[in-house]
Amino acid sequence: MAEKSFKYIILGGGVSAGYAAKEFASQGVKPGELAVISKEAVAPYERPALSKGYLFPEGAARLPGFHCCVGSGGEKLLPESYKQKGIELILSTEIVKADLAAKSLVSAAGDVFKYETLIIATGSTVLRLTDFGVKGADSKNILYLREIDDADKVVEAIKAKKGGKAVVVGGGYIGLELSAALRINNFDVTMVFPEPWCMPRLFTADIAAFYETYYTNKGVKIIKGTVASGFTAHPNGEVNEVQLKDGRSLEADIVIVGVGAKPLTALFKGQVEEDKGGIKTDAFFKTSVPDVYAVGDVATFPLKMYGDMRRVEHVDHSRKSAEQAVKAIKAAEGGGAVEEYDYLPFFYSRSFDLSWQFYGDNVGDSVLFGDSNPSNPKPRFGAYWVKDGKVVGAFMEGGSGDENKALAKVAKARPVAESLDDLTKQGISFAAKV
Ligand code: FDA
Ligand code: NAD
Repeated sequence: MAEKSFKYIILGGGVSAGYAAKEFASQGVKPGELAVISKEAVAPYERPALSKGYLFPEGAARLPGFHCCVGSGGEKLLPESYKQKGIELILSTEIVKADLAAKSLVSAAGDVFKYETLIIATGSTVLRLTDFGVKGADSKNILYLREIDDADKVVEAIKAKKGGKAVVVGGGYIGLELSAALRINNFDVTMVFPEPWCMPRLFTADIAAFYETYYTNKGVKIIKGTVASGFTAHPNGEVNEVQLKDGRSLEADIVIVGVGAKPLTALFKGQVEEDKGGIKTDAFFKTSVPDVYAVGDVATFPLKMYGDMRRVEHVDHSRKSAEQAVKAIKAAEGGGAVEEYDYLPFFYSRSFDLSWQFYGDNVGDSVLFGDSNPSNPKPRFGAYWVKDGKVVGAFMEGGSGDENKALAKVAKARPVAESLDDLTKQGISFAAKV
């Protein structure tokens, strides 16, 4: 079994890893100093493409088109670029043991990797219905989406079951983006989720009502307030029916499950301080263990604006946290320091012809503005969240580049709102004046 030593190891090969590698490269690393270790077989890529362009029936996005860091307009790091920059890209290698005290990682094949500084960027994994003991949940064509291999299975199933029936379990990001993708591929789609409206962790009932009607108009059937309680399969093992807890059943050729994700922290259990389900870090993404950093989905970090600790499962933070950690590491080596991470939460999604952005915090009272009629060919509406008399969050569907910039500004500035009525009347022009 081989043993290799590096000055820096980035553990994980996703979005954070790609952006951390880019930052190291731009600051300068000597050949052999830095390794990226990933269980995926491909170099870091922009994961959001998997639930959008990757599933288009025509002109689908494929690698190398969306390697990091094209998602933020940065340099595209092709697999060969890592070598050119002196970075060792160690793919198809799962780390199964981490000993933070001994500064060593062990792969499934038994290879040992030693480091001086470690950046944990292991991201999240999907929650599986088999974890909850749902009967028949291991049938074929019950699919999840996290990595490119999963996306390839979805593409294969779409081809094999052309124009068939799809059931999407979950009403969050994956549920909404995959229902749209399957509908665009001409599937007969039914979404099932337990809450009273879709995307409850962000949307208000009013916002959700727009998307639910829009989706219904596109032919997506929506069943709320219940969950998948079991599946039956054909003799060949392929799923053919979904049983719902409310007693109904649905035919299905494909089932896509998006019932949430959990951060991959198990390797480090008991070795590093945790908080809110993630690895606790400071404003430089340093963990409780010297020379160990954690970034992206796994990090629970101080969200300075709100004075609390948060974990964020979105791509903008994964990029920025990775850059912050590398800048902090490099600055400390030179005896300097960088400013504390001061993050403004930013989430977005795209499906069908829709595109929304959200900045800030979705707490307090909320108001809708603009035209949220789902039958309009170009819907354009938004929402503000107001807490303690101040606007703390801003959302817009169909916003222009300038309007989206205004959303970010208003959420950052948190101006006083005269009244909810006034915000409704002023709409996006309130944010534009900030
Ligand atoms: P990420 O999951 O990207 O990478 C983790 C990497 O670590 C993977 O390569 C994994 O294989 C590897 N790894 C884990 N354990 C390992 C081990 N033991 N050994 C070796 N390697 C290991 N966000 C958003 O804001 N807008 C969007 O539109 C989308 N769209 C979207 C679509 C889909 C399909 C998903 C799954 C997610 C999104 N997201 C998103 C969320 C966003 O992609 C996510 O927050 C970031 O990818 C997180 O980046 P990380 O680097 O933390 O994890
Ligand atoms: P999510 O947390 O967005 O949504 C999970 C949903 O699962 C809940 O809203 C609920 O409707 C549903 N649910 C929970 N238990 C259920 C059950 N037993 N049966 C049916 N439904 C159930 O998680 P997700 O959509 O699975 O996304 C996974 C990860 O990928 C998250 O980290 C998410 O942030 C990320 N992601 C983000 C984007 C984006 O930002 N545009 C897009 C895709 C994925």
